[in-house]
Parts: sequence; C-alpha cells; structure tokens
Amino acid sequence: MLTGKNIVVGVTGGIAVYKAVDVISKLKKMGANIDVIMTKSAKEFVTPLTFSSISQNRVIVDMFEQPVEWDIEHISLAKKADLFLIVPATANIIGKVANGIADDMLTTTIMATTSKVIFGPAMNTNMYNNTIFNENVNKLRENGYEFIDADSGRLACGDYGAGKLPQPEIIVDYVKDFFERAQDLKDKTFIITAGPTIEPLDPVRYLTNYSSGKMGYAIAKEASRRGAKVTLVTGPTNLDIPQGVEAIRVNTTREMLEAIKLRFKECDVLVKAAAPLDYRPDIVSDHKIKKDENTLKMSFVKNPDIAYEFGKIKGNKIIIGFAAETKDVIENATRKIKKKNFDFIVANNVAEQDAGFRGDTNVVTILDGKDNIEEHPKMSKDQLSGVIVDKITTLIQRRGIDK
Ligand code: PMT
Repeated sequence: MLTGKNIVVGVTGGIAVYKAVDVISKLKKMGANIDVIMTKSAKEFVTPLTFSSISQNRVIVDMFEQPVEWDIEHISLAKKADLFLIVPATANIIGKVANGIADDMLTTTIMATTSKVIFGPAMNTNMYNNTIFNENVNKLRENGYEFIDADSGRLACGDYGAGKLPQPEIIVDYVKDFFERAQDLKDKTFIITAGPTIEPLDPVRYLTNYSSGKMGYAIAKEASRRGAKVTLVTGPTNLDIPQGVEAIRVNTTREMLEAIKLRFKECDVLVKAAAPLDYRPDIVSDHKIKKDENTLKMSFVKNPDIAYEFGKIKGNKIIIGFAAETKDVIENATRKIKKKNFDFIVANNVAEQDAGFRGDTNVVTILDGKDNIEEHPKMSKDQLSGVIVDKITTLIQRRGIDK
C-alpha cells in the first residue's frame, strides 16, 4: 500500500494522457496522496477538472500570469514529494530537464526537487529512437533520474515501433516497487564516513585533501531514504546533512576513529567513503609558525588506519571500503580489500576526468576480492550511491543479518 506517500504526477501533452488518469486513480486507491501538475499542452488533451476529480486535489496548471503563487507552489511541491512521476513524458519535457531549462511550473518543480523523478516516455517511434533524445535520456540517467521503458506496438500516429506509454498496471507496479525498494533497509544501522580529515600544523594552518564529502553524503542520503538508521561521521565539508541522518562532526583522523568506536558495536554496516589523512605533523606548534627561514622542515607520524582497526573486529558486520588510486587501481584496491577485511571496495581512479574528489560524478570499479570485478561507467554520485546500497542490501539478505 502507498498510504501516506506524496506523489506528484506531471502530465505533459500527448495522446497517452488518458492512461495517466487511470494511473492516478489506481495510485489513489492504494492510499497515495496525489498532486497533479499539467503543462499547457496537456490541457489540450484532458481538462484539469478530470485530474482534480480523480486526485481529489487542486490541479496546478502552468500559469505564467500568476508568478508569485507559482513561485511558492513549485518549492512546496518539490519539498513535499516522495516521488515525481511524469506520465506521459514527451521528448520536449525530457529535453528541457536534461538541459536545465526551467520555464514552466512542471520543469521548475522538477528542477527544485531532491526526490526521485521517474519518467514514462511516450512519443512517435522515430522520436523515441532519435539520437538526441537518447543522449538526453542517458544524461538524465547518469544524474539519477529513472525511466520506465516504453512499449512497442501501433502508435497513435499509425506507425509501428517503440514509444507507447506502458499500460497503467505496469506504471503502478514500477511505483510500488520504488517504494518497496525504498524501505528495504528498515531497522538496519549504518555508519558512513565522509569528507576529508584535517590535521593542524599551528593555530592558523592545517593539512587536508580535496575530498568534498559528496560521495559519502550521497550514500548516507540513499541508505536513510531506504529506511536505515544512519550516522554520518563527517570531516569538515560545505554540505548540508541529509534529512533523517544523524551527524557526528570531526576534524582529525583520530577523532574520526573515536567517533566510530562509540557506535560500532550497534552497527550492521560501516561504509568508509571518507579520505582520512594518513599522517599528521609530529609536533603541532603552539604559536603561528614564522616565515623567517627559506625552507621549512617538518616530520610526520602515522595516523591510525581506521578501516584496518575495525576490519580486525568486524564479526558479522559488513564493511565497505573505497580506494582513491592514481595508478595500478585493481592491484592496489585488491590489496586493500584483504588488508582491511572489506566485503567489497569501490575503487575510483582519481587520475581520470570526472572521477573521485570534488565533482558530482564518479567512475569506479567495484571489486570483492574474489575475482568479481565490475567496471561502472561515469555516473552521478547520487546514482552510484544507489548501486553501492543495492550491493550492500544483497549482502545483508545473503548473510541474514536480521534484527
Ligand atoms: O568526498 P568526495 O569529494 O565526493 O570524493 C570522494 C572520495 C574520492 C574521497 C571517495 O570516493 C574515496 O575514494 N574515499 C577514500 C579515499 C581514501 O582515503 O582512499 P585510500 O585508498 O587512501 O584508503 C582506503 C580506505 O581506507 C578508504 O576506505 C579510507 O576511508 C580508509 N582509510 C584510509 C586511511 C586511514 N587512515 N584510515 C582509513 O580508514
């Protein structure tokens, strides 16, 4: 059942609009609260009255003439939604979202939401196979948007081929599956580390690295969305803590170790996405270091290897590591799995473009130390977090960790 779930249905202009009426009716019967946003062209096919009767909510139609209300409404719906479902989705709406165009109520709201957006495309078969359309779809998939594959058959225009909006039952099943997936980590406890650590040199200076925290925060958000109780142990970052996640903020590698120690006993899963500094200055100067000399010599001592420490006492828990490598990625990552007792490791080749530190995307190879090597194409860190959390969920199910 979908009781209490807020679904925003975006309806765009196409002959398959009539199927959206049936989809909404079915979702409503399952207990979902539905808000409908129609584009101007959708209104040419079915009236807003049909959708307000079926959803029992006011329908929002693209209204340039009332910009103030429009502005407030798009933010409130963007925040309220547990899911955005765009059915039927024309090539036009997909093209606009893929290219950052926000020129009406629906595109603006989609752009403003952090919830999952699922498109159900429907169009002429040549449009569906068009290279530009497919580039737009791939770009959106890379950024975490989902697509329900179109059906094949006789289209409204008389052509045969792919491009039909699937039957309402298939769309409703996809939505149900999304919400079931959404709760598959209920009662599981995660500790996720993210960001850099910093090590002070003197009262005004410190050493650090380029980690932004984006990878670890994305995993924390995904695990929490799927029902897990998540503690994020984070070094200094500029990111907002994801909703529902408890954060412990630390600076140094030793502080990160201590913060995990506090919670490790109760956790089922530890994800080590942080980039802790391996060394710290031997002596931290009490006063600002003066620039009197031409060279400055410092000595460093080794920090604890956090993952290694918990790998030794892991028991039935799952520990996932990351590896930031600039060369010999597979060899180095394989060595780290064994040494740190990881269940699998996510190796990012940080020398590659759009991978590793700071950016919104990553390119990774996932290894389990048992000859299974999965190469993943470039994708957003949000999307990659789904891949990682899916793998963790499978491990939990196989291992029968049950509370
Ligand atoms: O934060 P972003 O900008 O999004 O960038 C993401 C990332 C590149 C930081 C992330 O994807 C990543 O690769 N994190 C691990 C970086 C790292 O420290 O790699 P490593 O190969 O040095 O360490 C291997 C593993 O041991 C890691 O899981 C690390 O968290 C852990 N480790 C390392 C050192 C240490 N003292 N203690 C540790 O637990």
